[in-house]
Amino acid sequence: MSFSPPSFIYNLSILLLLFFCSSSSSSSSVLHHLMVNTTAVHQNFTAISEFRTLNRRVLGQCPGSNLNPFLHINVSSNSALSDEQFVTVTVTGVLRPSDQHWVAMISPSQSDVGSCLLNGILYAQTGDLSKLPLLCHYPVKAAFMSNDPGYLSCKKNECKALSKLDKGKCRVTTCSGSLSFHVINIRTDIEFVLFAGGFENPCILAKSNPLSFSNPKKPLYGHISSIDSTGTSMRLTWVSGDKEPQQAQYGNGKTVKSQVTTFSQHDMCSSALPSPAKDFGWHDPGYIHSVVMTGLEPSSTFSYRYGSNSVGWSEQIQFRSPPAGGSDDLKFLTFGDMGKAPRDSSVEHYIQPGSISVIKAMVDEVNSNNADSVFHIGDISYATGFLVEWDFFLHQINPIASRASYMTAIGNHERDYIDSGSVYITPDSGGECGVPYETYFPMPTTAKDKPWYSIEQASVHFIVMSTEHDWSPISEQYQWMKKDMASVDRSKTPWLIFMGHRPMYSSVGILNVDWKFVEAVEPLLLENKVDLVLFGHVHNYERTCSVYRKQCKAIPEKDQNGIDTYDHRNYSAPVHAVIGMAGFTLDKFPNKVDSWSLKRISEFGYVRGHATKEELKLEFVNSNTRAVEDSFRIIKNPSPHRKL
Ligand SMILES: [Fe+2]
Repeated sequence: MSFSPPSFIYNLSILLLLFFCSSSSSSSSVLHHLMVNTTAVHQNFTAISEFRTLNRRVLGQCPGSNLNPFLHINVSSNSALSDEQFVTVTVTGVLRPSDQHWVAMISPSQSDVGSCLLNGILYAQTGDLSKLPLLCHYPVKAAFMSNDPGYLSCKKNECKALSKLDKGKCRVTTCSGSLSFHVINIRTDIEFVLFAGGFENPCILAKSNPLSFSNPKKPLYGHISSIDSTGTSMRLTWVSGDKEPQQAQYGNGKTVKSQVTTFSQHDMCSSALPSPAKDFGWHDPGYIHSVVMTGLEPSSTFSYRYGSNSVGWSEQIQFRSPPAGGSDDLKFLTFGDMGKAPRDSSVEHYIQPGSISVIKAMVDEVNSNNADSVFHIGDISYATGFLVEWDFFLHQINPIASRASYMTAIGNHERDYIDSGSVYITPDSGGECGVPYETYFPMPTTAKDKPWYSIEQASVHFIVMSTEHDWSPISEQYQWMKKDMASVDRSKTPWLIFMGHRPMYSSVGILNVDWKFVEAVEPLLLENKVDLVLFGHVHNYERTCSVYRKQCKAIPEKDQNGIDTYDHRNYSAPVHAVIGMAGFTLDKFPNKVDSWSLKRISEFGYVRGHATKEELKLEFVNSNTRAVEDSFRIIKNPSPHRKL
């Protein structure tokens, strides 16, 4: 390649001026700091991040960017990508490093707007009224080049000749920098794109070549749930780019063929204004495979794998089945509002950094056989219409959900959308309307979009409801709850635990409690002597007295170990706990405290439960310190059916 020195130098001057202007524009983004610890990195981006406004920007090649012949973006992986790896993206040949330079990971590899010009319709949901989306597909993640501590100071530099006439003489100094991206197999090709102009006025400087995954059809992200109360049949669900049925092999040589399903853009909700799920947030989910493994023993360990000879197999995984309903002993973990967070220094549209310590602590619980089952009660992944984030969430929970029964309830961030039949008219699901949730987490419900069910494990009857679907006394869900609660055989399952997403009692904000919901459903809990009520939605931990209509009907007494003990031999009212502290930014408590609120903790963590027929014990575990910061017991008479 040869250049005419005078014109090239002229153009170079313009380029330098351009870069100077872009680097001197003000930005207060805290993203520009060096970031080391994953939790610290993202603590300011747990809500809808600054990054989310990107899709509203007019996008083009940066003026003059094609005049810098030295500028390149290279990726460490020359060969096809594995199912999980860290990729180093290196930018070289930069004439003037700027704190406005950033790199996006794009998938599918299509960093332009040429084929999606109709997306220029205004999108009111994010409040940004620019006319074109940044990209046809929203970036998977992004990071500022200044995350490389040597980038802005040009620590890594090279001296370049401008033309052959220079005969190798140093004429211009260029700088380089590197970023590390955590990449998991999301099936579609990816590319990395270098932008100038920050998130406010982005333009393209350079693109990498598209990279493919070595096996886009690889069976991945398997997770297991109960289908009934026997502990002998478990549902296994996984994701693959392959639409042909695959198999699960389990136990001693048993095999079962998968049912294959998926969902499309057309299945997403929308309104007059396109939702993220239907439009720029869409990402092809591949195919969701599901099998029911039967003939198992409850409370026992077996191994399984899933896949096929043509697309490959998962590794062999050990799973412990939950106890059958009516048996004695159950250990379970429960929490709400977890989400996911990147394992690198990038931002995504919606991330929950607290989830990382919670996941780590719960993996240790599963490894220590402290979890027969897990209940995640709403606000599951916070993908909220940016569908690739479901893959990252499924990847994150895999060490738990592939080894212990992972049961779920639906939350506002899975279901709610305008004109979609949700009780609350908010855009919180980003247009998902429960479709991805129900596909990834098929629970033992009676029908689609009726996400309520009950299940028995050992001495507990769990009722899982949807606070996002009609719960009024004339509703189908209410009638189901009433019938289900009345049918519980308390000699078989003495404990009745009621779960949903939005709370009946919380000290945080009157908007978090819908008193119409409390008025309608609370009497059912009392009439049926529900022992414990667990909700999320509010991001902290709070425990009540035995409460009804905001009045304490009983106060627990301390046992010999100083643990609050509720005596349900003389039942008065349910005990409520809010447990939405598993990842999303924590909510602080107000100074004023109502008399029904006995314990308030604003720390990340989860609840560890242990039920026998005589005692139900709950502990709140701080996932960072692993300390038990609250514990309480509910006691009952020994059952006449107890096996000694
Ligand atoms: Fe919520």
